[in-house]
Amino acid sequence: MVMILYKIKMEYTDLANYKLISFDKIPSTQNYAHDMIAHGRGADHTAIVAQAQSAGRGRFRRTWVSHHGNLYVSFIFNSPDRNPRLSYAVAVAIAETLVACDIKPQIKWPNDILVDGKKICGVLIEYSGPFVVVGIGINIKTNPTVAEYKTTKMANYTDVEINDVLRVLMKNLDKWMSADFSRVHARWMEMAVGLNKTIKYRGTSAQMIGLNENGALILRRDSEYFLVYGDEVAL
Ligand code: BTN
Repeated sequence: MVMILYKIKMEYTDLANYKLISFDKIPSTQNYAHDMIAHGRGADHTAIVAQAQSAGRGRFRRTWVSHHGNLYVSFIFNSPDRNPRLSYAVAVAIAETLVACDIKPQIKWPNDILVDGKKICGVLIEYSGPFVVVGIGINIKTNPTVAEYKTTKMANYTDVEINDVLRVLMKNLDKWMSADFSRVHARWMEMAVGLNKTIKYRGTSAQMIGLNENGALILRRDSEYFLVYGDEVAL
């Protein structure tokens, strides 16, 4: 396997306790992170940031349109095992980052971040060997038009710089990824949208009850309760 080299804009280590690698434009920070891991260059707390991506990836093989003006970052963290709770810690960390910017976010299970019912941020979590790659795209200055859902951007609510958002996000990730799951769970439930409401899961209606202690979503159909991991619901 050959690792393609892109021109690194800056590489420094003084942003919190992260090693930051920054690019003007690459295909995907997520792919770059996976390439680093495949070439033995993966390290805990590495952040790969791009000003724009030409082949940004979303969940369910969707494209993540990545024009200049937004935050596109993939974090590499140590994770010897899969951790179904991680998704919620990441969602809360992002939501708290928006709160710090005076924006009121909601979390759509498992980790989409909405403002006024429109998607402002998406998260892609992928495991690779002893690491997990957490890809985060936050609409700051622009929001793409997407067929599947409505979108918005931070600039509709406040004037913020990408690097300031990144700095707060890094601190919040450290805080919430090391927090007790009971705290993550409580905060996630406070900001979750659709709780106790009827939602659609795989085309059929169900009531959204909450999360269990392992990070599964609890749904109810009639009198039957069932658990869902890593999928999508429609509100
Ligand atoms: C989603 O579908 O909601 C997840 C979107 C994740 C997008 C981010 S942007 C940074 C990183 N690089 C990618 O190619 N994807 C993720």
